[in-house]
Amino acid sequence: MVRIKLAVLISGRGSNLQSLIDACAEESFPARIVQVISNVPGVAGLGRAEAAGIPAAVVDHKAFEDRQSFEAGLNEALEKSGVDLICLAGFKRLLTDGFINPWRDRLINIHPSLLPAFKGVHAHEQVVESGARFSGCTVHFVRPDMDDGPVIIQAVVPVHGDDDADALAARILAQEHRIYPRAVRLFAEKRLRIAGGRVLIDGAGAPEGALVNPCADGGRRK
Ligand code: GRF
Repeated sequence: MVRIKLAVLISGRGSNLQSLIDACAEESFPARIVQVISNVPGVAGLGRAEAAGIPAAVVDHKAFEDRQSFEAGLNEALEKSGVDLICLAGFKRLLTDGFINPWRDRLINIHPSLLPAFKGVHAHEQVVESGARFSGCTVHFVRPDMDDGPVIIQAVVPVHGDDDADALAARILAQEHRIYPRAVRLFAEKRLRIAGGRVLIDGAGAPEGALVNPCADGGRRK
């Protein structure tokens, strides 16, 4: 089995990084993490990478003059490890077209809402405030606009009447940890096709199959 090479970009806690580390530890998983990069020194996610024996680097945006030179620094770190797919996992810097376009369709992100609803920061607060009954999380290909791009996979959770943002975030995070490895697997197995701004999943039948609701399969992991 050919295992694709992942880079994971983080800025903090790294629980999604951990879900990818755990998935990659399974022999049958078709990817491995070759590089973790944080733009913030000393964050917990770096410790998770080190504990797993994965090369971890800090590319501190504060050490660069502007976004372009920061992104050149990122690319320099990435090029060394021959990366096939970049996973943004709680990476809290906006990336410009100059970085995103060369990585087009090889750069994915996870966002804690059902995109295209509730883009941007404080998604959970926005959801609670809105009175929406359901929310969830989305893994999508990255495009230059924030939290924009073809949806690969989503999971849905209910919003309870007494939820605050933290309670909702915890419910969603558990689903984030399930769908990110699934999205990586689909990519690695070359089952994703982008057509007309939508992702079609080979083997999932109709386009509706592109939305995988973990509630609908009894919580089983593929
Ligand atoms: C997650 O909720 C992710 O969806 C968002 O930032 C958070 C990162 O959490 N983009 P972690 O660092 O992966 O624990």
